[in-house]
Amino acid sequence: MGQQPREQWGTRAGFLMAAIGSAIGLGNIWRFPYIAYDNGGGAFLIPYLIALLTAGIPLLILEYSIGHRYRSSAPLAYRRISRPAEAIGWWQVAICFVIAIYYAVIVAWGVRYTWFSVGQQWGNDPDAFFFNDFLQVSAEPGMVSGFVSGVAWPLIAVWAVVLVVLALGVRKGIEKATKIFIPLLVVLFVLLVIQALTLDGAAAGLDALFTPDWSAMLDGGVWIAAYGQIFFSLSIGFAIMVTYASYLRRKANLTGSALVAGFANSSFELLAGIGVFAALGFMATAAGTSVDEVATSGIGLAFVAFPQIISTLPLGGALFGVLFFASLVIAGITSLISIVQVIISAVQDRTGMGRVQTVLLVGGATALASILLFPTPEGLYILDAFDHFINQYGIALAGLVMVLVFGWVLRKLPLFEKHASSISSVRLDWWWKIALGGLTPVLLGFMMWDSLRAELTSNYEGYPESFLLVAGWGIAIGAIVFGIVVACIPWKRADAIARHDAERAAAVPDGTAPVELEDPSRITASGATVPNSDQEGNR
Ligand code: ALA
Repeated sequence: MGQQPREQWGTRAGFLMAAIGSAIGLGNIWRFPYIAYDNGGGAFLIPYLIALLTAGIPLLILEYSIGHRYRSSAPLAYRRISRPAEAIGWWQVAICFVIAIYYAVIVAWGVRYTWFSVGQQWGNDPDAFFFNDFLQVSAEPGMVSGFVSGVAWPLIAVWAVVLVVLALGVRKGIEKATKIFIPLLVVLFVLLVIQALTLDGAAAGLDALFTPDWSAMLDGGVWIAAYGQIFFSLSIGFAIMVTYASYLRRKANLTGSALVAGFANSSFELLAGIGVFAALGFMATAAGTSVDEVATSGIGLAFVAFPQIISTLPLGGALFGVLFFASLVIAGITSLISIVQVIISAVQDRTGMGRVQTVLLVGGATALASILLFPTPEGLYILDAFDHFINQYGIALAGLVMVLVFGWVLRKLPLFEKHASSISSVRLDWWWKIALGGLTPVLLGFMMWDSLRAELTSNYEGYPESFLLVAGWGIAIGAIVFGIVVACIPWKRADAIARHDAERAAAVPDGTAPVELEDPSRITASGATVPNSDQEGNR
């Protein structure tokens, strides 16, 4: 199989835009507003900011540093740090597979709802329309029993866009697409927020969101919610940032980029909170009720409450709907692209296969799984269980294992601190190691223990045990087993890369000079190095 040089981002702005595009997603638009409201309103912003500074940005820097130093997908990068750590990488690849297959279907609903907004197809009862007419949800969770074509075709379209962008490559596909999508998203969303702020009752909504309930600060659950939100929203723990940073040039400002991406994501999240609650304030005022009566979570907020708001608007309802759902679709697509890229890049590193072939085979299989499982009457239940279990015992647990293994077992934080500081604008210091090695594992450990306790006390959403064993625990544990099994399979090319790394390390006399690691895409299975390509000149 011919070796291809590793792809690179065209510019720093291109990388940043892609990282921000990955971060800003469904989690910002409908998850954040509700989580903030439910966890103390204005007072939530304090734990949220602390979570951003103590876990979000430090972990983002860790992921950037690993990807940049080893210039490899997650499994290979972790293997180059320590052979057994490869399993964490494949585990994260499995997590990305699970998230990708259900995340795409929410984007597909958004596509249909952008169109439904024009004629307000949901009529007088958006709730019944969404669950019964559109999704055709079955009475009970279970195995798939039919096909809902109204969901299937937009889902196929979403996958087609994602796979075409990925097949075009890092620079011509992902970078170009996010450079168009993210500015467009910001324009659409700002317009939406302006329209929302001019509605009657907007102030009541903002009051409800921002009035601080200081007692919430003493509630452990609020802190858990803040850390959970930061993880999902910043796309950390999925290995996305390891993957994206592996395409950076040698000279890269890692800490500066992490700060920009972290604050850009949180600013967008706040903006989403303002827009969504201004609209909910309007709806509550129009219905003569209070905001807490109309504020619902997740799916309900986007696909039931928003259609209601759109129908209640005296003027510009269609525009408001198109702005909201188109924003959701754009934000979702750029995140979905990054999630699937984790899988593509891992398989490319593992097999040496070309990008287009990998996208067709692996991306195609991922799309097929998504299309077979979710546009079905049982799809919503499966989605809900996958989402809950893979967030709790996938992303957050993988984040915890990462900091424990790299920080405590392998003691690599000083190495990454040196690596990031030597090339970045903001130098890392003791605070970074304390945040990652101390605070983050303690808080994440507590979070894990607390949610496991709740899980074992009662079945999630009251779903039947047999269903949760497959679609909940089965998926979360299956991802871990997959990681371990794949990491146990011998891998010749990785051994050759490890030999190269060892030779380079031995050539550094006192261990003080940085070891320039070889780009893995230049090493063949036999251990030979492919000559430099044209790209080397830009580094
Ligand atoms: N970070 C992405 C989101 O917020 C996954 O949806």
